[in-house]
Amino acid sequence: MPSTAIVTGASSGIGECAARQLAERGMNLVIVARRKERLEKLKEEIEAKSKVKVEVLALDLSAEGAAERLYEATEGAGTEIEVLINNAGFGTQGQFADIPWSKSSEQMRLNIFSLTELTHRFLVKMKTRDRGYILNVASIGAYMPVAGYATYAAGKAFVRNFSEALAHELRRTSVRVCCLCPGPTETEFIDVAGQKISAVEKLAFMSADRCARIGLRALFGGRRLIVSGFLNTLMMFWLRFFPRRVITWGAALFMEK
Ligand SMILES: NC(=O)c1ccc[n+]([C@@H]2O[C@H](COP(=O)([O-])OP(=O)(O)OC[C@H]3O[C@@H](n4cnc5c(N)ncnc54)[C@H](OP(=O)(O)O)[C@@H]3O)[C@@H](O)[C@H]2O)c1
Repeated sequence: MPSTAIVTGASSGIGECAARQLAERGMNLVIVARRKERLEKLKEEIEAKSKVKVEVLALDLSAEGAAERLYEATEGAGTEIEVLINNAGFGTQGQFADIPWSKSSEQMRLNIFSLTELTHRFLVKMKTRDRGYILNVASIGAYMPVAGYATYAAGKAFVRNFSEALAHELRRTSVRVCCLCPGPTETEFIDVAGQKISAVEKLAFMSADRCARIGLRALFGGRRLIVSGFLNTLMMFWLRFFPRRVITWGAALFMEK
């Protein structure tokens, strides 16, 4: 029987590509996001191309009780989840004091709280079966303080540290946890965050398809942490040799405007 994967944030960007790639691997899917019509379109496309089954769940994962609803609709209803892709997330660009608190707290509830709750709920079952894969999508922002994305980057640092600690806790099991840290990627992220990017800056962006492929390859290859792309990996490696104030200044140069 083919196994089932959940992909959160599958209505666009990295999550949408990850869903297609998991279907190519023969996995049934549960795809989650708020925009139901986008998910229905993706379901139609995937089911027309392959034999896998796709279930659509339109959920606002930042809402109280949403993680529990996702769990109850899947494991709770007898569907064993072998793969959890915790990808849904968004950023808010601007000075922290200028961003309405409701927006920052929604972001933290989604990017941190929902991801952690989903990991806990599904991991308990995965540990019992001694089988499973969890991919938590962070960001290269997890490596540094980012003025202009203060809560976002701090939240992604949480996701990175949390995922690496979990991977260590699970080292004697067959459950794998991997953290994907994408660099700039062509998705709706920048528009949602309200950032202005020049055409030249856009040249440095990786395709969402490639980013998802890097993440899934790392997850199924047993890696604990992966930064997308050679240049991003090199930059994150070199950061350790610089003082924090220099790193903070450098990040602000690109991200604060
Ligand atoms: N693109 C980049 O440059 C970049 C860089 C580093 C990290 N990342 C991370 O990559 C992940 C995927 O983002 P992306 O770049 O693919 O951006 P994207 O195209 O904007 O996709 C974000 C996805 O998250 C979903 N989402 C947002 N709020 C949600 C909510 N409250 N409940 C459920 N789903 C929600 C969106 O669907 P709905 O709007 O339909 O709900 C969408 O499917 C995020 O965690 C992001 O932080 C992206």
